[in-house]
Amino acid sequence: MQILVTGGTGYIGSHTVVELLNHGDDVVIVDNLSNSHPIVLERIEIITDKRPDFIKADVCNFEKMNEVFSKYQFDSIIHFAGSKAVGESVEKPLLYYRNNIESTWVLVELMEKYNVPSIIFSSSATVYGQPDINPITEDFSYQCTNPYGRTKMINELFLKDTTVAYPNISAISLRYFNPIGAHESGLIGEDPQGIPNNLMPYITQVAIGKLEKLSIFGDDYDTHDGTGVRDYIHVVDLAKGHVAAVNYLQEHKDTSFLAVNLGTGIGYSVLDIVHAFEKIIGREIPYQITDRRLGDIATCYANPKKAKELLNWEAKFDLEKMCEDSWRWQIKNPKGYVRSNVF
Ligand code: NAD
Ligand code: WQD
Repeated sequence: MQILVTGGTGYIGSHTVVELLNHGDDVVIVDNLSNSHPIVLERIEIITDKRPDFIKADVCNFEKMNEVFSKYQFDSIIHFAGSKAVGESVEKPLLYYRNNIESTWVLVELMEKYNVPSIIFSSSATVYGQPDINPITEDFSYQCTNPYGRTKMINELFLKDTTVAYPNISAISLRYFNPIGAHESGLIGEDPQGIPNNLMPYITQVAIGKLEKLSIFGDDYDTHDGTGVRDYIHVVDLAKGHVAAVNYLQEHKDTSFLAVNLGTGIGYSVLDIVHAFEKIIGREIPYQITDRRLGDIATCYANPKKAKELLNWEAKFDLEKMCEDSWRWQIKNPKGYVRSNVF
């Protein structure tokens, strides 16, 4: 199949492109490189022996995207492109609402025009906000607590409405839990700009000596050790979930809209992650306990049953593998893509 991958040079996008190419699909990446590096394309080629077509463009640019759609006949779209930092979304709601919503609008408008039958959308467990109970199933209500989360919710509602109005279009919204890890080659991985917001890149940067110590945001939550519990999922498992979703819609053309959790179903605390990582590197990670981070919740993990039943997908990699691969990526690329040891 010919697949358009927006945001395909980003963290999750690049791993998904690798899985699609390995699966035998043809891939066209559109990315404006606002949060990624073009060297990713070379890395993808080293891993897969195939080079995806790449177009540097903003998905919100209708005219440019119209040119792309007129050149290729896509069988499906995977839409990763977007802005993803919760804190930044509070400061810059205009940027978030525009980038995250207009991009999907442009794509669906062009899907209708060029008869592209399906789209897989990158959603997030953040749409559930603070759930009353865990594990979380897809029928839990929206409880978004920040602009970023609300852009994901609005996208889902938009896709629901448009897939009802245009029965020739199907959509699956994949609600990711906490992606970590990297491709086992160490060639592609997460490359945050500046000081990382997320736990695993922070830990790996402490381990390599780039940051002094980890701050653990609160140890007084109602969890087994007081620190926050999340459902960490290996990015390669997540990437495979996208291949499964594309295939599902290829075989179930009468689908309108589906929301599906991609998680492992297992909740680990911050201290569980720190200790698992320490085991891999054979030394301690310096940390201090600080106040809770504003907006954080105690516990969030998925019920992944729907993904298994519908997509025949389930996460395979355990926490040890997630830590091992995160660490390999970090030591091979101590400064990220720009000045790595690999090239
Ligand atoms: P990322 O920033 O690494 O990748 C996003 C890519 O999209 C980047 O390469 C960026 O340059 C590109 N991009 C952004 N706006 C664009 C635009 N208007 N036009 C073209 N390209 C554009 O992020 P990621 O972690 O790979 O996340 C991918 C998607 O998954 C995002 O939509 C994000 O909201 C969602 N998501 C991520 C996480 C996570 O923890 N990483 C969790 C849940 C959902
Ligand atoms: C995990 C745990 C922190 C950093 C975020 C977004 C969510 C989704 C995934 C996009 C929490 C603790 C963290 C640190 C810490 N992204 N922590 N010290 O907050 O679950 O989810 O990323 O959709 O929308 O909100 O992930 O990795 O930031 O935090 O103690 O330096 O680690 O409090 O318990 P989070 P995270």
